Amino acid sequence: MSGNAKAVDVTHARGLGLALAALAKGREDDAMVALTATRQRSFMARALLLSLAERQDANAYDAPRAFEAFIRGGGNIALYSAMSDMLARVYDRYRPARMIDIGTGDGLALVPALAAASHRPREVDVVEPNETMFTKLAARLPLHAGYHQGFEAFAENLGADDRWELAQSTFALQSIPPHARMPALTQLASHVDRLVIVEFDIPMFAEGSIDLYESLARRYELAATEQGEHAELVASGFLAPMLLGQLRAQSPSNWEQPAAAWVDELLASGFQVVEVEHVHDYSWAPAVRIMAVP
Ligand SMILES: C[S@@+](CC[C@H](N)C(=O)[O-])C[C@H]1O[C@@H](n2cnc3c(N)ncnc32)[C@H](O)[C@@H]1O
Repeated sequence: MSGNAKAVDVTHARGLGLALAALAKGREDDAMVALTATRQRSFMARALLLSLAERQDANAYDAPRAFEAFIRGGGNIALYSAMSDMLARVYDRYRPARMIDIGTGDGLALVPALAAASHRPREVDVVEPNETMFTKLAARLPLHAGYHQGFEAFAENLGADDRWELAQSTFALQSIPPHARMPALTQLASHVDRLVIVEFDIPMFAEGSIDLYESLARRYELAATEQGEHAELVASGFLAPMLLGQLRAQSPSNWEQPAAAWVDELLASGFQVVEVEHVHDYSWAPAVRIMAVP
C-alpha cells in the first residue's frame, strides 16, 4: 500500500473498520452505531448509512455515472495515464493485427492507448456487458466487433475461427467470480496468442481480521476523499455498493486478489505467465501488468 493510504486518520479508519467488521458479520445495528459515530468525518460512513437506510442492493456498475466520475478523478488520472502508455507500448512491441478488450467499460483505458500507439491494430473487438458503457464506447471507437455480454457467455460461444493476437483486460476480471472466470479464461486460452491483464496487487490479510477491515476502511475512504467535488456521488453510487457487496458475500461486485493469486489462476487456466510488471503506485494498491501466453 502507498504512503497515501496511511494518510487517512487512524482513529477514523478504526471506527469505520469496526463498522465494516460488524457489517461482514451481519450485525447491522452495531454497524449503524459505528457509522453514525464517524459520519461527520467520513464520506464512506455517510454513503453506507444511506445505502443501509434505503435497503439498496445495487451492483457497483448499476449507476455508471458514479463509476465514470470515479475513474476520471483523483488518483485515477495518473493511474489511467500510466496504464494507457503501458498498453500503447505493448501494441507497438507485439504489433497485433486483431485484438480484443474484455470488460472495456466506456473505453477510458483502451481508447487513449490506441491513440498513443504507433501501431494501430486493424481490428479491435470488445466485450462489455453494461449497456450504458457499451453504447458510449461504441460511439467513441470504430469497432470491428462489439460483444454486449459478459466474458463468461462470450467465452462459451467462441467458434473455431475466432482468434486474436492480443487479448487485454484492465480491472475487469476482478468483476467476475473465480468459479466463472477460470473456465472462461481456459476457453479463451486456445483463441489468443497473448493475454495482458492489469489488476491491483492487493495486500493480504487474515480472513475476518480487524486489520483487513481497517485496511478496507482506509483504502475506500481515501478513494472517496481523492474525488474532491465528486466524493459524495462516487462514495454513494460506486464505492458503497462495491464495499457492501464485498462484505456481504451474497452480492459482491468484486473478487480482487494479490498478484501472486492472479498468476496462479492464469497458470491453472492454461496460460504460462511471462512477466509481472509494476504499472503504477495507486492509493488502493499497486497496479500490475501480468502478461501471459497459452
Ligand atoms: C473497473 S471497470 C474497468 C473498465 C475498463 N476496463 C477500465 O479499465 O476502465 C470493470 C468493468 O468490467 C465490466 N464487467 C462486469 N462484469 C463483467 C463480466 N462478467 N464480463 C466482462 N466484463 C464485466 C464492467 O461492466 C466494467 O466495465
